[in-house]
Amino acid sequence: MNRPSVAVFGLGFVGLTTALGFADKGFSVRGFDVDGGRRAEIAGGGIPFHEPGLGEALARVIGKTFFVADDAMMAANGAGLCFFCVGTPGRPDGSADLADLFSALDGVLGARENARGGGGVADDCVLVVKSTVPPGTLAERVEPYVRSRGAVNPVAVNPEFLREGRCWEDFIHPDRIVCGVTDDLAKSALAALYAPFGAPIHFVTPNTAEFIKYLSNSLLATLISYSNEMALLADAVGGVEIARAFRILHEDRRLAGAGIDAYIYPGCGYGGYCLPKDTAALGALARSRGFSPRILEGVMSLNAEMPGFAARKIERAAASPTEKIGVLGLSFKPGSSDARDSPAARIIAALMADGYRNIYAYDPLAMDEFRRVYAPDIVYCASARELCETCGTVALVTAWEEFAGIDRAFPAVDFVDCRYFLKG
Ligand SMILES: NC(=O)c1ccc[n+]([C@@H]2O[C@H](COP(=O)([O-])OP(=O)(O)OC[C@H]3O[C@@H](n4cnc5c(N)ncnc54)[C@H](O)[C@@H]3O)[C@@H](O)[C@H]2O)c1
Repeated sequence: MNRPSVAVFGLGFVGLTTALGFADKGFSVRGFDVDGGRRAEIAGGGIPFHEPGLGEALARVIGKTFFVADDAMMAANGAGLCFFCVGTPGRPDGSADLADLFSALDGVLGARENARGGGGVADDCVLVVKSTVPPGTLAERVEPYVRSRGAVNPVAVNPEFLREGRCWEDFIHPDRIVCGVTDDLAKSALAALYAPFGAPIHFVTPNTAEFIKYLSNSLLATLISYSNEMALLADAVGGVEIARAFRILHEDRRLAGAGIDAYIYPGCGYGGYCLPKDTAALGALARSRGFSPRILEGVMSLNAEMPGFAARKIERAAASPTEKIGVLGLSFKPGSSDARDSPAARIIAALMADGYRNIYAYDPLAMDEFRRVYAPDIVYCASARELCETCGTVALVTAWEEFAGIDRAFPAVDFVDCRYFLKG
């Protein structure tokens, strides 16, 4: 296969980046999202979230190699590969909710069943799951489902390792591509598609590909919880310069330069869309197979307690529950507008549960998203300066670069540095 055309289902962080990335490499790409507002925004040249590089990429390819389709059938029509990039959120028991994946598959399988004459999805179109799905999903759930619909299409799984805030850079310059395949057609289609990226391509069993993604996210979560536990321990011992201790640790030549230092550093717990739900899904999968993952359980339970630790620290600094408390940073990490499962939300909820109701907040990018998702009864400030002029106690919850040195600019404010970012 030379220049396969591609359909992408789900135009969020992963799907839109994937669609624009393949389109920028010259492949013909059609994207579809169930959210009509999102489709219209992208078709009009807008990016629905903050991600450097995506706007420029969209401007380069829209109407040339990238098109937004009005329905799933139109997107899938004639594609050589269909990529599924929909969300896989956590259920209350921690397991992954695959409802969006199966509904996106239905759209394509419907296109196949409705195909008359020249239209629809060809039998050799490769159905590729890019969403993060627990090991066993392709072999035990997706493939049987596709076959139960009478389709013979090859299926594959191709986990994505991009980081929010760097989606474009990570996608265009991947360090490795992982593909779980069982047949040669899927392998050759994926090899042709990824050839222009110049990264090693690993063809492995579907279970291996799915497992590698969880292996990666569980390790990152473990490093964060390890760092948080050590910081709490150091606090209990007393006299330890925690931020300096970690920065000196990073100079170890076994760690330096690996880009891992961001994860080996204490804070107020990991958040965002991926680490919480993926560690929970792996834990749920392990338990369902009769194995109790002790380290992973510890990683998750410490993380669940972190907002409480942060809230107690803030409460100790505040004179009384009626004092105005400022929260600097609402996104789950700097450089992102994403507030999904943000530690800020859990810290604010813990403060409110303890009777602290005068809460003010500021974030450079995530305030609209935060307001929409959590709708807490707090006051939003127009700037970090306004917040520091209003509140006597200010908690730094997201380490945005623009907050560096703010403690020196407002010496009268009592700063609670939940990210070990301001001092030391
Ligand atoms: N966000 C990340 O940093 C990241 C990194 C690697 C992997 N992942 C994984 O990739 C997947 C997607 O994550 P995301 O952050 O891009 O999610 P997202 O919420 O940003 O985007 C998902 C999109 O899918 C759309 N959608 C839902 N059902 C659909 C359907 N039936 N057909 C078409 N579109 C549909 C939604 O409207 C939404 O726009 C998840 O499994 C996630 O774990 C995410």
